[in-house]
Amino acid sequence: MPAAAIQASETAAKRRTRRAKAVPVSDTQLSAEQKRLIRLSFLRVEPALDLVAQLFFLKLFRLDPSLRKKFSGPVEIQARKFAAGAKLAMISLGHEDGLAPTLKLLGARHRQLGIRARHYRTMSRALVWTLERSLDKSFDRDTKDAWNTLLAYFTKVMAG
Ligand code: HEM
Repeated sequence: MPAAAIQASETAAKRRTRRAKAVPVSDTQLSAEQKRLIRLSFLRVEPALDLVAQLFFLKLFRLDPSLRKKFSGPVEIQARKFAAGAKLAMISLGHEDGLAPTLKLLGARHRQLGIRARHYRTMSRALVWTLERSLDKSFDRDTKDAWNTLLAYFTKVMAG
């Protein structure tokens, strides 16, 4: 290849690299469409969040009965904490990069409580199961993939 052609192709490659860097990289690996699907499904369950939370805890404790003793106080209080966590997850969709330090702190607090990566995986399974039961057909394949991607991100930041 002539020198001029090599230089031209190198310049084009550099330009491509610069352009790639200019595109904001999403920490969660979620596309805008996936965020929309998560928000939409959350809005659908929000009116019944207390019931959804109770179903989630029943499933969580069935999957891993040893987790029950980590939670103190009545289920209503836990349900309220669950709602706070769910809202935090929704807020994080809009500020995902800025919220990583907060999630890391929350992860450190969970580590003190003895919560490890495998517990996050169990929790993710229980939550996806609960959403599947609560949303029925509107919890389609794409929505499920989006939730799994978000939960994998939470697990990585909080337990990593
Ligand atoms: C998506 C990841 C999670 C988020 C966003 C989240 C969020 C929260 C929040 C906001 C609190 C209240 C914080 C506080 O009281 O200081 C909390 C407490 C707690 N979380 Fe999580 N959490 C997550 C994952 C988990 C997992 C995987 C487990 C265990 C299976 C777990 C178990 C607990 C326990 C035991 C408490 C304390 C409850 C108590 O005080 O009785 N969390 N979580």
